[in-house]
Amino acid sequence: MAATPIAVVTGASSGIGAATARQLAAAGYRVVLTARRGDRVEALAAELTEAGHQATAYALDVTDRAAVDEFATAFRSLAVLVNNAGGALGADPVATGDPADWRQMYETNVIGTLNVTQALLPALTASGDGTIVILSSTAALAAYEGGGGYVAAKHGEHVLAETLRLEIVGTPVRVIEVAPGMVRTEEFATTRFRGDTEKAAQVYAGVDAPLTADDVADTITWAVTRPSHVNIDLLVVRPRAQASNSKVHRTL
Ligand SMILES: NC(=O)c1ccc[n+]([C@@H]2O[C@H](COP(=O)([O-])OP(=O)(O)OC[C@H]3O[C@@H](n4cnc5c(N)ncnc54)[C@H](OP(=O)(O)O)[C@@H]3O)[C@@H](O)[C@H]2O)c1
Repeated sequence: MAATPIAVVTGASSGIGAATARQLAAAGYRVVLTARRGDRVEALAAELTEAGHQATAYALDVTDRAAVDEFATAFRSLAVLVNNAGGALGADPVATGDPADWRQMYETNVIGTLNVTQALLPALTASGDGTIVILSSTAALAAYEGGGGYVAAKHGEHVLAETLRLEIVGTPVRVIEVAPGMVRTEEFATTRFRGDTEKAAQVYAGVDAPLTADDVADTITWAVTRPSHVNIDLLVVRPRAQASNSKVHRTL
């Protein structure tokens, strides 16, 4: 009997990562949930196991290369890697943005994705049929005022995806980039505004049906479960009420 294919999801302790872990488990993958908050990924893995799925948890900071390398030693063969860990810090103009925020966003979104991808690429290749998903953003494709460091970091992730696809063509690994627009998750905007829930709520004020974490997880799961020869290079997904990063219909 063929072994159950394994999917690693980074940033699986909340939002899109947690929803993706649930949907990939339901699609038949053995999911490995990682995030810095080990208690949260442990709890989700236990819930999925209880529901009859195969799930394990591992506390991991994607910016810690030594820890990522240690994590990767557990895998000789890997079907799917979802690079989801990431996020935004602040919404300041370029003129006054804090370089420390810019650095941290680059570290998490770009270097974090680089670390995990480099460490797991041998196992993805060894599987004979590997898939790498990079969760960027519409901020990876166009600038917006106040986007500054996040836009720069997500553009970096987009270029990582594009470059890697060029470099590994001919190997049995595909590179899929999913670029969502506005997604209402419980933590993304609150983290961006450092716990200021009022400011976080303003992001979604008057918007009829922002995307949910499940909408994006559904998109990721669809792309991952296409036949192996089909590479969804880049999939942009937005709520109907959003036409661009800065053109959002609000009923206020
Ligand atoms: N929400 C949106 O509007 C939106 C739109 C487009 C793209 N995205 C992207 O989608 C991804 C998920 O966002 P989300 O909305 O689900 O936000 P979220 O709920 O804040 O999730 C972010 C996840 O990343 C993890 N994470 C952050 N830093 C990490 C690190 N150094 N090492 C390991 N894990 C880390 C967090 O877990 P721990 O804190 O436990 O480590 C958390 O699980 C991000 O890459 C984000 O940029 C979001």
